[in-house]
Amino acid sequence: MPEADESKKEKQYFTDIPQKSEAFFLKGSNSLDWGMKNRLSNIFDPKSGRTVMLAFDHGYFQGPTTGLERIDVNIVPLAPYADTLMLTRGVLRTMIPPSYNRGIVLRASGGPSILSELSNENLAIDIDEAIRLNASAMAVQVYIGGEYETQTIHNLTRLVDMGNRFGIPTLGVTAVGKDLARDAKYMRLATRMVAELGATYVKTYYTEKDFDTLSTACPVPIVIAGGKKLPELDALTMAHRAIQDGAAGVDMGRNIFQSDAPVAMIRAVRKVVHENESPKAAFDYYQTLKNEGK
Ligand code: R5P
Repeated sequence: MPEADESKKEKQYFTDIPQKSEAFFLKGSNSLDWGMKNRLSNIFDPKSGRTVMLAFDHGYFQGPTTGLERIDVNIVPLAPYADTLMLTRGVLRTMIPPSYNRGIVLRASGGPSILSELSNENLAIDIDEAIRLNASAMAVQVYIGGEYETQTIHNLTRLVDMGNRFGIPTLGVTAVGKDLARDAKYMRLATRMVAELGATYVKTYYTEKDFDTLSTACPVPIVIAGGKKLPELDALTMAHRAIQDGAAGVDMGRNIFQSDAPVAMIRAVRKVVHENESPKAAFDYYQTLKNEGK
């Protein structure tokens, strides 16, 4: 039953305190709407401004990749240590407990398998499905310089339009396929194009030289993919350098789930990303956890 406000307590308007109007913590995201920012805060930790995304969407073009044969057995135990899971809707529905309450980044493009031309992708999800699955963002591959370059750019721009309509961020993934270059000159071109065409944030590969120039020239946050499995110290060193050179996090798959001790590895990656830990200290932490059987 509604009732009139008859409280005897004097009203407090705090007329001497100006209303707070804080800038949003993520680069290039200040002009986005509330829902979009709220979803981004589910991916990036507002305290560090960074993210450890656990990527295990590889099956969408290459089937049961080593380490991903049984996602319920191998990946679900890692979920509590990730800020966000990057995966397909098929795996989300069948393997991930709906009680998981951090970010979900849905793979939104697909088509060709590893047996054919990888750049020949189309959008592979509808916006209502992403909403139904409570996605924090949708991810699309863009093959700059690839055979189906324009088609993949159109996939990106259509996804950005759909996402903007409903407040769902778009992660533009600069894909290199089997043989495109991975140097800073190429990645500067690819990341800048993807950002200018509307991606909310961008995923790319770390470049040994001049990564700071591409992170600076990209007006939205950049996260790096892990790429092929490396020795743990090398993977931690790559993540550390990327962060120090301006990356806002990692979207790492094989270097975590193919590690001898995946839980120890993802916890060590968190140290590098969220606490600016040195590669050596993070590696020692990894080994300690591994020796404890974690
Ligand atoms: C690539 O197929 C997927 O987009 C992966 O999510 C991405 O490559 C990150 O995984 P990894 O660290 O294994 O390269």
